Amino acid sequence: MSIRQLEYVKLGKTGPMVSQIGIGAMQASGAQAGWPYVEEEIFDAIGVSKEVGVNFIDTAEEYGQGESERVVGKALKKFGRENFIVASKVYGQHLRYDELQKACNASIERLGVREIDLYQVHWPDPWEQIPLKYTMKSLEKLYRDGKIRAIGVSNFAVRDLEEALTILSKAEIVSNQLRYNMLQREIEEEVMPFCRKNSISIIAWSPMAQGALTGKYTLGKLPGDYRATKSSIFSLPENMAQVERVNKIIKEIATYHGKTVSQVALNWLVYAGSDVIPIPGAKNGVQARENAGASGWKMEEQEVSRISKVLAETKISYFP
Ligand SMILES: NC(=O)c1ccc[n+]([C@@H]2O[C@H](COP(=O)([O-])OP(=O)(O)OC[C@H]3O[C@@H](n4cnc5c(N)ncnc54)[C@H](OP(=O)(O)O)[C@@H]3O)[C@@H](O)[C@H]2O)c1
Repeated sequence: MSIRQLEYVKLGKTGPMVSQIGIGAMQASGAQAGWPYVEEEIFDAIGVSKEVGVNFIDTAEEYGQGESERVVGKALKKFGRENFIVASKVYGQHLRYDELQKACNASIERLGVREIDLYQVHWPDPWEQIPLKYTMKSLEKLYRDGKIRAIGVSNFAVRDLEEALTILSKAEIVSNQLRYNMLQREIEEEVMPFCRKNSISIIAWSPMAQGALTGKYTLGKLPGDYRATKSSIFSLPENMAQVERVNKIIKEIATYHGKTVSQVALNWLVYAGSDVIPIPGAKNGVQARENAGASGWKMEEQEVSRISKVLAETKISYFP
């Protein structure tokens, strides 16, 4: 795949230019966190990403309690810091002003960088104990001090965004990282239109529904890890039946284009109207290459309509 197939988009109005498809590094969290990985394979995934022009890499202090950031840091040394836009996130327990400063410094250290390109609030404070004002002001200080190049949030609803926007005076919120894939489209109702209206880019996490939209899992063949019991998509049989139905349609479209199910699932996110930036998690170079190959081609209108039709008949259930 040539580099030209990937386009680059600006995060928000003032953020960095990132490849239209990025790579998620939660996969390097480690066995204890439930994501065992092979370091060389993660390096391969990141090396291939560089080769094909994927420059946007997402991690978080929470992933393996710093493990993912350390692996990403080593990869940046190996493949050249200048080739990547690095995004990380502050954990929900570090949202107080001083704790956030400390958390950012620790992430910078683990990543081995001078500044983090995009620093995101991982989740709004679940207990609503820390006024958002302290978190946002602390982010603004990091921005002014040059420790972060852009401010982002993640899993922010409209009310969180509205509040956050009124607090910042010297920097903008360039992105909101949200769960979004063909099967889980809750954001379309409120938060997506709000982000569009306010020039906040949407970064899509779990863009392949944790692997359900790759076509390799079925009711009779679930992933051999935590997903089989802890993820609603995989562990509720009524969901997997729907996944199989959706994947059947995707597979037909994929075959016509000489692509894979994963590539159609990601392509739909980028080109079929929602214009988001997916960050598929890749465990190795083969997956990373395949995921990047989701860009640079378009489905026909009637194929997009076919997908819309099957998705309209699909409803994912969640654990009570
Ligand atoms: N902000 C947040 O709250 C939040 C939450 C979750 C994730 N994230 C971010 O989003 C990223 C992606 O989300 P995710 O890992 O939940 O879901 P995902 O990207 O939808 O699925 C990733 C999984 O799919 C499989 N896979 C990936 N590429 C494949 C390919 N080409 N062919 C076949 N299988 C493939 C891999 O698992 P197997 O090979 O084992 O099936 C991989 O672990 C994470 O790395 C993280 O950076 C953010």
